[in-house]
Amino acid sequence: MLTVTDLSVRYGQIEAVRGLGLSVAKGSVTVLLGSNGAGKSSTLNAIAGLAAPRGRIEFEGSRIDGQAPEDIVRKGIALCPEGRRVFPSLSVAENLHLGGAVHATGDELAARIEAELARFPILRERYHQKAGLLSGGEQQMLAIARALMSAPRLLLLDEPSLGLAPKVVDQVFDLILTLRDQGITILLVEQNAERALEIADRGYVLQSGDLVLSGTGEELAQSDLIRQAYLAG
Ligand SMILES: Nc1ncnc2c1ncn2[C@@H]1O[C@H](COP(=O)(O)OP(=O)(O)O)[C@@H](O)[C@H]1O
Ligand SMILES: [Mg+2]
Repeated sequence: MLTVTDLSVRYGQIEAVRGLGLSVAKGSVTVLLGSNGAGKSSTLNAIAGLAAPRGRIEFEGSRIDGQAPEDIVRKGIALCPEGRRVFPSLSVAENLHLGGAVHATGDELAARIEAELARFPILRERYHQKAGLLSGGEQQMLAIARALMSAPRLLLLDEPSLGLAPKVVDQVFDLILTLRDQGITILLVEQNAERALEIADRGYVLQSGDLVLSGTGEELAQSDLIRQAYLAG
């Protein structure tokens, strides 16, 4: 579904990603692992059109690198960025409208919002509250719901479990599997390697911008590199 070939991302002198290749199979959960500063967010941002990359990014058979972010969203890719950046002074309703207004209007927009409220009942309860007053977990759900408002076939999730309580982390990982079962392909960036590899069909490990390891979720979970670096055991 998605093929990234020889991707590099630079910020001035800093080379955040060097010659990365990866592919995401339709219907899979694919995980991108690596410690802080490894280049994970830069990779997702490049796919979403938010960083100017070198290399080739193909989605469903056609090139998307160099295209504007809104065109990439229209093609069926949505990014839920790191740090659950909802608009804190806007209501849940307004946040959802903003996520969908470019893609749908009128009845279609209302239907998409209704679908997300059905998926996330807590957002229906909080519908008229300011997003900034929600708990961290609720804000993460809102950020994901907002990304889903564009009805993506590929969802890019950047560290959705970061800073959440263990019970809420469970909910996030359950949600990822549910979305996958509903036909949404997932490219997940995580620091929680253990949990991520449990649900991953395939994984890639970045270190300082270089791809150092890839394999099935199971292969990576058993690899020495992952065990030593991330799983502490
Ligand atoms: N907008 C930016 N300007 C300059 N350097 C950046 C920018 N974004 C990221 N970097 C640098 O690029 C490298 C990779 O960052 P990032 O992709 O955010 O890593 P990760 O998501 O794996 O933590 C880091 O060294 C980071 O400091
Ligand atoms: Mg990051």
